[in-house]
Amino acid sequence: MCGIFAYCTYLTEKDRKEICDILCTGLQRLEYRGYDSAGIGIDGDTEKDVILFKQVGKVAALRKLITESKVNFGKTFINQVSIAHTRWATHGAPSPINCHPLRSDPTNEFTVIHNGIVTNNNELRLVLQKKGYKFESETDTEVVAVLFKYIWDSQRGTRLDFTTLVKIVVKELEGSFAFVFKSIHFPNEVVTARRGSPLLIGVKTEKKLKIDFVDVEIAGPDVEKGAGLLAPGSSSLGSNFLVPQPAGMTRTQSRAFMSEEGVPQPIEFFIASDASAVVEHTKRVLYLEDDDIAHIIEGELHIHRLRREEGKSSVRAIETLELELAEIMKGKFDHFMQKEIYEQPESVVNTMRGRVNFDTHKITLGGLKAYLPIIRRCRRIVFSACGTSYHSCIATRAIFEELTEIPVSVELASDFLDRKTPIFRDDVCVFVSQSGETADTILAMRYCLERGALCVGVVNTVGSTISRESHCGIHINAGPEIGVASTKAYTSQYIALIMFAIQMSEDRISLTERRKQIIDGLHELPAQISQVLHGDKALQQLAKTVLANSRSLLIMGRGFQYATCLEGALKIKEISYTHSEGILAGELKHGPLALIDGDLPVILVMTRDSLYPKVQSALAQVTARKGQPIIICNEDDLSISKEYRTIRVPQTVDCLQGILNIIPLQLLSYHLAILNGFDVDFPRNLAKSVTTE
Ligand code: G6P
Repeated sequence: MCGIFAYCTYLTEKDRKEICDILCTGLQRLEYRGYDSAGIGIDGDTEKDVILFKQVGKVAALRKLITESKVNFGKTFINQVSIAHTRWATHGAPSPINCHPLRSDPTNEFTVIHNGIVTNNNELRLVLQKKGYKFESETDTEVVAVLFKYIWDSQRGTRLDFTTLVKIVVKELEGSFAFVFKSIHFPNEVVTARRGSPLLIGVKTEKKLKIDFVDVEIAGPDVEKGAGLLAPGSSSLGSNFLVPQPAGMTRTQSRAFMSEEGVPQPIEFFIASDASAVVEHTKRVLYLEDDDIAHIIEGELHIHRLRREEGKSSVRAIETLELELAEIMKGKFDHFMQKEIYEQPESVVNTMRGRVNFDTHKITLGGLKAYLPIIRRCRRIVFSACGTSYHSCIATRAIFEELTEIPVSVELASDFLDRKTPIFRDDVCVFVSQSGETADTILAMRYCLERGALCVGVVNTVGSTISRESHCGIHINAGPEIGVASTKAYTSQYIALIMFAIQMSEDRISLTERRKQIIDGLHELPAQISQVLHGDKALQQLAKTVLANSRSLLIMGRGFQYATCLEGALKIKEISYTHSEGILAGELKHGPLALIDGDLPVILVMTRDSLYPKVQSALAQVTARKGQPIIICNEDDLSISKEYRTIRVPQTVDCLQGILNIIPLQLLSYHLAILNGFDVDFPRNLAKSVTTE
């Protein structure tokens, strides 16, 4: 998904080369989100000049384009604003023209970078074209840049300030977005706005800041009504084309970032889609909320909102990030995905740390504690998620039902919304998301919030929209996940949900033994995961000798292992571009059996649990049709004929076995992608964080 990075300095000398380096490095940190082209916009040689560089492909190609250009890299700036973007094409193919920053006109009066989709862009484009404005790209974003120019042109003589202009523009837009705006009419100023897509601002100063929050400035009542910027009938853009009146602002206090001695100080601001692009510069960050408009001018940060809303905080805290740069670097591994697969013995410990007491067999989830009595009284539990996160819900659904005796449904967030599923006040809705920013999951959560259900977030990214907007929740603490194909987040989500189920059932005496058995199983997991990882070489060999040239692959299992099949197949599809399907073995004879022959590779998940005999029968059905299964089984299972290839894993409690079983499939998909020469961390057409519907 698109990545935003902007850099603004005040009283801090930087030359153009340093600025371009900072921008390109910022974009590189966002590469994991998925993109197909990249661009930057920097100050030109005069205040009325902006230079744009845009390139299709990787940030490295953009860097090369910049380095080989003839601009004066030695030119220094004391104050400057520059913007940078990685684009994931939605409107118009990847091309330099469609790449951001988009501009209002050939003189670059207004330049814009954008994440999200402006859904009414076609209507706006038509109106602006009728008024004589020209477009050069196919993007929805260009409409926004041109709209700026239109409003600016119609206001000659009334000199609007930059924020007011942004408010007018944003009011016209529908859809979800995060924007950063730059203009030659407002040198050294930058404005950002968000609705539905994440944005944060990092603040770097040499001296300690005097404040650790910024007040929100709220427009007065006449702003709500609007005063009509254009004479009645002069605009065909619609009746909500209203102007906030600067005079109506209630500014409570200055948002200057004074030092402790109270004097203005040199300061650098970093605006980004997520913290990974900012953390190497500063750990002091402020997360913007939906409908915030932030304006940086002369070292001050102002946050505006159009109206005061009940229950909304009137300050934005400057928080300290706990992320280390090393955590998002590859270290000794070739790819982030590989590193993340290998981190699992550690990441699962981090998920359990401070929450599981292995001596008393107790679980304490601090983020749920206050809400547990309500959760336990609920009529049903509804899980909503997408992709891998959805699979973690499927994987734990049965243990939730077993331990809580409450009906559980698992929903794909997009389908849940499409169906307008009935939700009631006594439902507990659980939203599982690695990023906490997946648009479909956020929209499903807001749908449930509106209907009065208790909303629980299970997320990896602290400060993300789901973690902030849900009533309560669990951070899975897996650490940053960069590879587009989710691996360690899956195993950590799995464990977080198991802990949730155990905690919900702790007042049920009859289940004491079962809980104890699972908690003991959790204790053994890290060592068992390491053991599975030791089989990596054999898996690499299997990928090379048996699977590398397959065009399709079926993965079958049942019960707790159905989720393993779905997730394993997703991994293979995502990064090795091989068709793969996860199949519930019970369904085999209802259709998929027709696919079985001596050529199609089949992986059968056949670790020991109560369904083992039924999976044995699936194996018999496959082999009777000359199928050549590869069997994932327990290391001491001697009942499997030597003629079949096996992948051996340690045995654990039935409801935890999926955590061990998925690891060979993660490794297999990794090796298949490498063997086929694909970019493991950035698979084609996919994005890490899908922040549009
Ligand atoms: C994208 C990613 C998947 C991920 C899904 C849900 O499709 O490519 O790997 O599972 O989004 O993301 P979330 O951040 O909500 O877990």
